[in-house]
Amino acid sequence: MKLAPSLLAADLARLADQAALVEDIVDLLHFDVMDGHFVSNLTFGPPVCNALRRHTTLPLDIHLMIDRPATYIPRFEVEPADCITVHVESADPPEQTLEYIRDLGCLAGITMRPATSLQTVLPFLGQVDRVLVMSVDPGFGGQEFNPVSLERIAKLREAIGQRGVTVSVDGGIGKGNIAQVVRAGADIIVAGSAVFGQPDPRAAVRELREAVG
Ligand code: DX5
Ligand code: ZN
Repeated sequence: MKLAPSLLAADLARLADQAALVEDIVDLLHFDVMDGHFVSNLTFGPPVCNALRRHTTLPLDIHLMIDRPATYIPRFEVEPADCITVHVESADPPEQTLEYIRDLGCLAGITMRPATSLQTVLPFLGQVDRVLVMSVDPGFGGQEFNPVSLERIAKLREAIGQRGVTVSVDGGIGKGNIAQVVRAGADIIVAGSAVFGQPDPRAAVRELREAVG
C-alpha cells in the first residue's frame, strides 16, 4: 500500500514545511485543486502546485475538482512520476483532458463522485494509469467514509484485470478503516484528516501503516 497524505488538511501557509515533515515516510503527496464551481470550495491551483513542486522530491498526486480542466492542465509543471486526475463529470471531456495530461509527460488518472456510476470511467481504463475512487463527496476533508466504495473498489479491480492501472481511494480513511480499504483492493490510500489533521503527522503515518499490518 502507498500512502498519499492530502495537503488539504495541512497548514496551508506552510506547505513546503508540511511536505518535508513526512517526506521520508510517505509515498506521494495528494494535492486537491478546487474551483468553487465543480465543488463549493476553493483551494489552490497551478501556481501553488508549481511552487511546491520545487520544494519536495515526492511525486504529486494532483486531484482536479474543477469544471474546466482543459484550461488549467497545461499550466502544471510536473515530473514524470506526478499524476493529474480529472473527474469524469467535469465539463471538458476526459478524451481531451487525458490527452492534455499525457502531453505534459506525467501519469494520468480519472475519478468520479460516489453518486456517479462506476461504468462511466470504465471506457477510459485503456487511457489512464490510475483510477481514484472517491469515498466521500468531493469538496471537503473530514467527511465520513461511504462504505459503498468498498464494493466499487472490488468491481473496479475486476474490470481492470491485468492492465497496469492502480486504484487509489480518497476520503474518510483513518486507522479504523484503512485495513478494510486496502483489503478491498486499494493500491494508494489518500488521507487528509488522519495525517495532517493530527497533532503529530509522523506518528499518524506510523499508526496508519500499523493498522494495515
Ligand atoms: C475531498 C478531497 C480529499 C480530502 C480527504 O474532496 O478530495 O482528498 O482531502 O480528506 P479526509 O482524509 O479528511 O477525508
Ligand atoms: Zn482528493
